Amino acid sequence: MSGDAPVAVITGASRGIGKQFAVDFAAAGYDVVCLARSTDDSPTKLPGTVDETAQLVRDAGRRALALPLNVQVEEEVAAIADRVYDELGRCDVLINNAAIAIPGKTLELPTSRWRLAMDVNVHGPLYMMYHFCPRMVQAGSGRVINISSGAAVRPEFGRISYTVTKRALEALTEGMGFELQEQSVAVNCIRLDFAVWSEGYAYTLPGVDTSEFEDPVVMSDAALWLARQPLDYTGKVLAITQMREMGAVRGNTRIADREGWGDGETAGAREVKR
Ligand SMILES: NC(=O)c1ccc[n+]([C@@H]2O[C@H](COP(=O)([O-])OP(=O)(O)OC[C@H]3O[C@@H](n4cnc5c(N)ncnc54)[C@H](OP(=O)(O)O)[C@@H]3O)[C@@H](O)[C@H]2O)c1
Repeated sequence: MSGDAPVAVITGASRGIGKQFAVDFAAAGYDVVCLARSTDDSPTKLPGTVDETAQLVRDAGRRALALPLNVQVEEEVAAIADRVYDELGRCDVLINNAAIAIPGKTLELPTSRWRLAMDVNVHGPLYMMYHFCPRMVQAGSGRVINISSGAAVRPEFGRISYTVTKRALEALTEGMGFELQEQSVAVNCIRLDFAVWSEGYAYTLPGVDTSEFEDPVVMSDAALWLARQPLDYTGKVLAITQMREMGAVRGNTRIADREGWGDGETAGAREVKR
């Protein structure tokens, strides 16, 4: 293992798309920092912990840090940034992937739920950029990849806070891309505009057949493609269907075609649903 390898910092890496990013960035030669609230010592009700994801990174021969983080808490984000630079000395790619989707009509939910959505989906990525980007500027290079949703432009009535926060994240991407364009830090966004299987998403759809959902590996294609673009490729919000047309993302997938689907990790999700 080499200390010279590029480093990817990934929020929401305990399961789902974030876990897939960790595995595929490791395969591409990155050391990986896996961040989320679920740890082996403090698991949540859904399957997956940052420690389990970090072990997959190490199995691929890369260095991994598994650190608990609630992205809502700026002090925790600041401490994580210090720790990453102390221990690994760099952050080449930051992926703001952690998010929540709160169901319920706006007027029927307490306003605290709205603030929660804003804190996790908008302030979390903002805190991450706030504490990582100045060090990227200092290093003379860095890339931020924010993860949005088709809901940003296709309002999902019944969970409007999700639409609002993802639209805000896209605006934040464009603004930060503009502000940092002369400072060698690229900020871009992938808008995931079709269903990708993840433990978290499956949990919100009890009784729904999710076998035709796409494999999260398509998101790794998109993120690795962005990580390879020149630093002046910035401020862009790219729908994944558009990235597929550009040849950046493989053709259609279905999670049911993944080896082991139906037992292994997906069994965990089914157990939670019962
Ligand atoms: N799956 C889809 O079809 C789809 C479609 C459009 C967009 N997206 C976007 O893709 C991204 C990943 O979604 P997913 O389907 O993989 O979701 P998921 O399975 O629910 O995973 C969400 C991740 O975010 C973490 N997280 C949630 N709240 C957090 C907090 N306060 N602090 C730190 N980490 C937190 C969770 O870990 P802990 O619970 O351990 O903290 C988990 O690792 C999200 O941005 C989502 O909006 C997904």
